[in-house]
Amino acid sequence: MKHVISAKQFTDRDQVDGLMDVADRLRVSGGDRLRGRVLGTLFYEPSTRTRLSFEAAMLRLGGGVVSAASAEDWSSAAKGESIEDTARVLSSYVDCLVLRHPERGAAARAASHSAVPVINAGDGDGEHPTQALLDLYTVRRELGRLDGLRYALVGDLRYGRTVHSLVYLLGLCKDVHLTLVSPYELAMPQEVLNFITAQGVPCHQVHGGVSAVRDVLAAGPDVVYLTRTQLERGKAVEDDHRRFGREEMDLLPPTSVVLHPLPRRGELAAEVDGDCRAAYFRQAENGLWLRAALLDALLGRGACCESPS
Ligand code: NCD
Repeated sequence: MKHVISAKQFTDRDQVDGLMDVADRLRVSGGDRLRGRVLGTLFYEPSTRTRLSFEAAMLRLGGGVVSAASAEDWSSAAKGESIEDTARVLSSYVDCLVLRHPERGAAARAASHSAVPVINAGDGDGEHPTQALLDLYTVRRELGRLDGLRYALVGDLRYGRTVHSLVYLLGLCKDVHLTLVSPYELAMPQEVLNFITAQGVPCHQVHGGVSAVRDVLAAGPDVVYLTRTQLERGKAVEDDHRRFGREEMDLLPPTSVVLHPLPRRGELAAEVDGDCRAAYFRQAENGLWLRAALLDALLGRGACCESPS
């Protein structure tokens, strides 16, 4: 694997399991595996967890980082430079480029002009493959398995890129069942539904109000994945009735887990943070180690000998 643009690239379950195994090992002892390598982060949209966990992962593995946050204002993009030209130049400075951009497809365009691996850290309403990898890694750590689980994905499934990548990755898991809960205007895109249906994953959509959401929770999903309404992308849709708080948590079985890619707004109340099923802060921490494993796979010893895909 050279670039990481879409979760659809991950077609081998063993490869994903292996990445998680490495993440488990790195959190115990990392060492200086990436000494002398340099990571570039180029972010044209706000980020806290994604950019800083990639940078911290690189530093913890002994590598170095150069960073352009607010690249829309503080890189030559402000002078009208194309993402293709920027990627081409930066790829002569660094060994790997992590890119976040507001346009869908931007990471693929950058990759086509980059001499080094490009990792898509979110391209508009497209995908966010490393978030999906860390989401599944969290499920494995919390529940001890990835197969035979029932998921409820709740919120803005249309513009939320994390759920698109997550659904693509779930195609690798056996005996998974998906319930997609959103307002009608924020339903999962058809192309994502077509993909998962072709993988044979049973999937049904719910567009009802608060009582329908509660019915979904009361049915006892193993994983509840909440998302923020992406106000920066679509037209504002009133979704406050989907607030997840103590009453909703009480509907879930004791063995379930609640995830959220963060940041949250009103859809997830802080009153449930202390519940052991609320795993979203552990999820954010897991991102550091999963991303470290990914950097190691792309840049570590032996990685340069693999043929690019
Ligand atoms: C997500 C993103 O940027 O898509 N954030 C993240 O990387 N954890 C989710 C979001 O912004 O809602």
